[in-house]
Amino acid sequence: MKAATYQKYGTPDVLSISDLPKPEPAPNEILVKIHYTTVTSGDVRLRASDFPAIVWLPARLIFGVFKPKKQVLGHEFSGVIEEVGPDVSKFKVGDEVIGTTTMLPMGSYAEYVKVPESWKSGVIHSRPKSLGFKEAAALPIGSMTALFLLEKAKLSSNKTALIYGASGGVGTAAVQIAKIMAESVSAVCSMRNVEMVRELGASSVMNYVDDEYLTTNERYDVIFDAVGKMKKSSAKQLLKPGGKIVSVNTMTAESDKHIRQIAKWAEEGKITPVIDKEYKLEDVPDAHRYVDTGRKKGNVVIKVFDT
Ligand SMILES: NC(=O)c1ccc[n+]([C@@H]2O[C@H](COP(=O)([O-])OP(=O)(O)OC[C@H]3O[C@@H](n4cnc5c(N)ncnc54)[C@H](OP(=O)(O)O)[C@@H]3O)[C@@H](O)[C@H]2O)c1
Repeated sequence: MKAATYQKYGTPDVLSISDLPKPEPAPNEILVKIHYTTVTSGDVRLRASDFPAIVWLPARLIFGVFKPKKQVLGHEFSGVIEEVGPDVSKFKVGDEVIGTTTMLPMGSYAEYVKVPESWKSGVIHSRPKSLGFKEAAALPIGSMTALFLLEKAKLSSNKTALIYGASGGVGTAAVQIAKIMAESVSAVCSMRNVEMVRELGASSVMNYVDDEYLTTNERYDVIFDAVGKMKKSSAKQLLKPGGKIVSVNTMTAESDKHIRQIAKWAEEGKITPVIDKEYKLEDVPDAHRYVDTGRKKGNVVIKVFDT
């Protein structure tokens, strides 16, 4: 099968197309023919070994000291089940699914991926029928990260939320989820993304350039830094007494409970992943070049098989 692989850390040029053996599922595993995968900011970080100084050494120990342990990147996918191991009971051949590859030995920049039916770090779930394979591939990571952190901040229907960095993969999901959970949602992004963020459900949208948003008189119960670039002092300035600040710069976890909730909201038409650009598998280096700019709006997807 075709896969985009990398053997050393570096620029997008380290990625190339290779021929790998098609994975053979173990008794508890599922083989998925991938239709779409995504390029997340996590993928480009792993490719470049671009970890914050404080976690650089532990990250290299986990992901490979001299070269990457995992040669196929890609953290989320949509596709169709092609084979199931004899111990698999919840899924069958032909099921259309979405999922993640978190902590598995191989990612989803490939024609096929095998995943356990259930495991601690990642998820697999049936594809919400309201979304095509393209949008569905981009549902798990951004939405589960946003839901995890908004729940951690105890956002509820009598509280107001501010989403900082509302135009990225996590931010666009966070605005839509906060709209469901909160009394009202405000957002911060650059002027060029204001219209998109408003359409996602933010009642007020402010500009982050030159710290313009700090001139607001509003105060919020929950402030979610969805891009990891908000100064703590700025967040504190805009927080109501007793409010909570959460950031993508903290550990999150995936769970079946969260993917079920996300998929349900997607089915109800309450969440739709924003797709910025689409590339082919052989153009994964170009997709990484684009995500490296730090300017993506929502998600970048990779088409693997035609549907
Ligand atoms: N904890 C976790 O489990 C987890 C999961 C996923 C992601 N993350 C982390 O979360 C961060 C965001 O990920 P992502 O995929 O959402 O990022 P992304 O999509 O690559 O973010 C790009 C967006 O951020 C906006 N942006 C850039 N600088 C900004 C600033 N200073 N203030 C406000 N907005 C800014 C850009 O808008 P403009 O072009 O208008 O500037 C662009 O739309 C990354 O650091 C990633 O590693 C963590």
